[in-house]
Amino acid sequence: VDSPPLRIAVMAGDGIGQEVVPEGLRVLDAVSRRLGIALQFDHFDFASCTYYERHGQMLPDDWKERLGGHDALFFGAVGWPKTVPDHVSLWGSLLQFRRAFDQYVNLRPARLMPGVRSPLVKRDGSPYAAGEIDMLIVRENTEGEYSSIGGRMFAGTEREIVMQETVMSRLGVDRVLRYAFELARRRPRRHLTSATKSNGIAITMPFWDERVEAIAAEFPDVTRDQFHIDILTAHFVQRPQAFDVVVASNLFGDILSDLGPACCGTIGIAPSANLNPERKFPSLFEPVHGSAPDIAGKGIANPIAQIWSAALMLDFLGRRDGHDAILRGIETVLDPASGAPRTPDLGGKATTADVGRAVAECVGSLA
Ligand code: NAI
Ligand code: MG
Repeated sequence: VDSPPLRIAVMAGDGIGQEVVPEGLRVLDAVSRRLGIALQFDHFDFASCTYYERHGQMLPDDWKERLGGHDALFFGAVGWPKTVPDHVSLWGSLLQFRRAFDQYVNLRPARLMPGVRSPLVKRDGSPYAAGEIDMLIVRENTEGEYSSIGGRMFAGTEREIVMQETVMSRLGVDRVLRYAFELARRRPRRHLTSATKSNGIAITMPFWDERVEAIAAEFPDVTRDQFHIDILTAHFVQRPQAFDVVVASNLFGDILSDLGPACCGTIGIAPSANLNPERKFPSLFEPVHGSAPDIAGKGIANPIAQIWSAALMLDFLGRRDGHDAILRGIETVLDPASGAPRTPDLGGKATTADVGRAVAECVGSLA
């Protein structure tokens, strides 16, 4: 008996989301045929500014019911600041998904790929080689510094005060730490770095450190270190090769998860996952980049971040073989020796669809 198809909710969103998502689907189709992975795609037009202009809200009232039964959400990008302010479009869509579907892990691989130049050089001035930078950044995605506890008093007067409290729960901290340690345990280097700031933020961050220590006892096979966030950003730039899995609170993770991919070249290839590891709710897979209004409509956006996000999705859904096939396809296409098309952000002249087709062809012809 064939297993039932994996049900994927597809939301392309705005701008280049509309251009790169079809290429992600093209590659998923190829891998599905190649490896016999049954996939069912359901398309939704909400979580976009176009939807907002028609309905006055980013999501329909029954979005939880319409998305909640899916195995995963495959997302492009949201945002069109000319018509909808960014805080409205982002809070009205993505941030709703993260909270309601308890996607408490934000996972971002930062790996230097073949044929992509890092903006960084080594101490001796030589460039980093493919694979020399290879880290996974795990950001807590539901609490921490991004809380709605606080307020403003005496607005507009000389006594004006504002307050926003950091919230860390033992449950919330332990579960993201455990996820990060598990991840580290499955990688060759088995190393975990924790971002802290317990010298300055002297209540919540010492608590974070304590929990790291407590959870570490369950993972004696994982080596570990920790750095204050300020010097950690310097280490990312000066010796990115030293990191394997990096775990951080919501705010620190937000910063590191942009810095990590930036160390690996173009934002056009960086993928991300918002995970509910217990699978009680669907997880969401999307590129790191946004809707890129400056190049939208030109057909020149790099689709690789979206395609790599599709690989992360298959991995999470239990098809590591599908993940690996897509990654091999991406690596082949990115390698200049392949002569494959490249989009302008990688110095080429190809279109989004050219690159999508090239990856799909590689995936389809894998032995
Ligand atoms: P952005 O990531 O959309 O663009 C930044 C720069 O990178 C632009 O010059 C763009 O052309 C380039 N770029 C981005 N993706 C690319 C790709 N695939 N290929 C080639 N070049 C690429 O960030 P920006 O400009 O700050 O934000 C634009 C809109 O996207 C805003 O409305 C923002 O709120 C939204 N946004 C949405 C995100 C999401 O949906 N998760 C994440 C980040 C921003
Ligand atoms: Mg960010």
